[in-house]
Amino acid sequence: MRRFIGLMSGTSIDAVDGALLEIGEPPGALRTTAFASRPIPEDLRRELETLQSPGADELARAALAANALAGVYADVVADLLAGAGCPAASVTAIGAHGQTVRHRPELGYTIQLLQPARLAEACGIAVVCDLRAADVAAGGQGAPLAPAFHAEAFRDAIERRAVVNLGGIANISVLPAFGASEPVTGFDTGPANTLLDAWCRRHTGADFDRDGDWARGGKVDAALLANWLSEPYFALAPPKSTGRDLFDPGWLDRSLTAGAVAGPASGAPGTGRNPRDVQATLVELTAVTVGQACRESGAERVFVCGGGARNRFLMERLAVNAAPAPVTTTQALGVDPQAVEAAAFAWLAARRIDGMAGNLASVTGARGPRVLGLLAEPRPRN
Ligand SMILES: Nc1ncnc2c1ncn2[C@@H]1O[C@H](COP(=O)(O)OP(=O)(O)O)[C@@H](O)[C@H]1O
Ligand SMILES: [Mg+2]
Repeated sequence: MRRFIGLMSGTSIDAVDGALLEIGEPPGALRTTAFASRPIPEDLRRELETLQSPGADELARAALAANALAGVYADVVADLLAGAGCPAASVTAIGAHGQTVRHRPELGYTIQLLQPARLAEACGIAVVCDLRAADVAAGGQGAPLAPAFHAEAFRDAIERRAVVNLGGIANISVLPAFGASEPVTGFDTGPANTLLDAWCRRHTGADFDRDGDWARGGKVDAALLANWLSEPYFALAPPKSTGRDLFDPGWLDRSLTAGAVAGPASGAPGTGRNPRDVQATLVELTAVTVGQACRESGAERVFVCGGGARNRFLMERLAVNAAPAPVTTTQALGVDPQAVEAAAFAWLAARRIDGMAGNLASVTGARGPRVLGLLAEPRPRN
């Protein structure tokens, strides 16, 4: 048995999630044995959000943010090791995602901030980082990367399954039953928590809409929803991936008629739309776009992971839109929905260490399978 750690901080910029993954000797059974999470401190969260768009002195600021983020990553590693009661030396490698600040595969780059040498130095464990670049270099989207792990962990002998990650952005993995001749496919469906969080923060001051209760009290604005659904990204054929480069608060603001939604964060909605109705409509946007992907996938069951799995209202709306396939969470498959994406990066680290491909060209559109990630080692190997 070998141990790997995966560390993930996604487009929600809420926290660094970590998972400890045990990989058995052949046939390679996977077991997620520990999970830990630390919120990203508010000043760093703001800086990472600011770095999503061009700004003054951004090279130096990005370097400092990458160093600070490595500190939070190291804290999560310490929590994981303490929680699981195992020493750093028992971990083969860490797969660390970093914080995406630009994602433009069509221009040949994707940037995840993180200082891997600092993380390796702090933990005394080898770090695999920059896991998207090789796929982009091979003409792929560099995303989503989780479907390969979803296939490894969740594929079934009989049932055709879909795994949906409701992070800042939502992505789907379509897992044909073993033996089917079809490849595993997947893509980013569009926005999930990033717009929900931004709107909620602006109008209520809360970081996110707990359980979707605030949205639940709103009414879906059909015209607004139709307007959002006309966004060209939704009609693009896969392979496709997206991020805050497209679906940021600016996208939301531009889509709302100037002046229609008035007032500051705490203020009255004015004469325009009720902010709660906008939140309800955002939930519906995610439910409709993800639900459509689920229906088109032909999956018999849908398994949700990511923070959005905790948004009860969103889960209810998704169940309606994904029907007839029942919607549940990956807990039904024995894996904590919060831990799945982090576990995926632990698995990707193992693939890098073993010199095996981490991408699925059928998902990302890369020219072929590629070994993903760069290695930072804390000390010489004797
Ligand atoms: N109880 C909850 N109710 C509603 N939304 C939640 C809840 N818990 C977490 N979330 C949402 O999940 C998000 C984090 O999800 P996560 O999977 O970490 O996304 P990412 O990978 O983009 O960081 C939070 O920003 C929040 O929007
Ligand atoms: Mg997160």
